[in-house]
Amino acid sequence: MLKKGQKWYRIENVAERYDDKRFTEGGRILNMKEQETLLSLVDPKGKKILDIATGTGRFAESLSKNGGNIIGLDASREMLKQSKVDCVQADALKLPFKEKSFDVSVSMRFLHLLEPEEIRIFIEEVGSVTKKKFVFESLHPLSLRMLYQWALPQGSRLYSNSFLKDKFKNNPVVKKVRSHQKFVIPYGIYQNMPEDLCEEIMDLDEKISDKHEWLASTVYWEIYF
Ligand SMILES: C[S@@+](CC[C@H](N)C(=O)[O-])C[C@H]1O[C@@H](n2cnc3c(N)ncnc32)[C@H](O)[C@@H]1O
Repeated sequence: MLKKGQKWYRIENVAERYDDKRFTEGGRILNMKEQETLLSLVDPKGKKILDIATGTGRFAESLSKNGGNIIGLDASREMLKQSKVDCVQADALKLPFKEKSFDVSVSMRFLHLLEPEEIRIFIEEVGSVTKKKFVFESLHPLSLRMLYQWALPQGSRLYSNSFLKDKFKNNPVVKKVRSHQKFVIPYGIYQNMPEDLCEEIMDLDEKISDKHEWLASTVYWEIYF
C-alpha cells in the first residue's frame, strides 16, 4: 500500500500546482534562498548528480544550469511530467543504478516523508550509488514547523539532529557528517506571504538564525561517503 507522501504527489492536480506555490509571491523568494543554499553546499560543475525525490525538478534544473550532469528520480510520474531534466521513475529506497554511478547525490524536502526505520536503509542505498557526498535536508521538531506540520495532507515527520546522528553513527558507508540550520520561520509560512513582506522577514530570519542556529526549522546535512 502506498504511503501518504507517495499518494499525495501522484494526484495530477497537486503535481500541476506544485510549482505555482514555489515560484510566486513569498514562494519565489524562498525558492531563491533554497537554491542558493544548495549551491553553497554542492558545486555541480562537471559532476554527475542524482536528485532523489526531484519532484517537478526545480533543484535539478538549477544544478543543471550551473554545469552539472543531472538525473532526477521520483516515485511520482505526475510530478516528473512537470520536470525539464532527464528523469527516472523509481523508489528512493531501491535506487536502480550501478555502484558509485554518481559523484554527488542531493535530496531536498524528502526526508520528512520517510518513516524512522527507513532512514538507515535510505542512507545506505544513497551511499551505494554515490562516490563522494550526499546533501539533503530534514525538519527539526523544536521549531515553528510544529505549529502546522500535523495538518499536512502528505504527512510529515520531524527528526531531531540527535536522532539522525544516531542513524549515521556506526553506519559503515558514512565517513563524515556536517550540518547547518536555516529558516526560523518555516517554509509553509513563507510560501503564503506576499513577496515584499517575505523579503523583509527573511532578512531578519537570516540574522537570527546566523546567531541562534538551534531556533531554525530546516537542517541541511552533508554526508561524506
Ligand atoms: C515535497 S516534494 C519535494 C520535491 C523536490 N525535491 C522539491 O524540493 O521541490 C517530495 C517528493 O518526494 C517524492 N517521493 C515520495 N516518496 C518517494 C519515494 N519513496 N521514492 C521516490 N520519491 C518519493 C514525491 O513524489 C514528491 O515529488
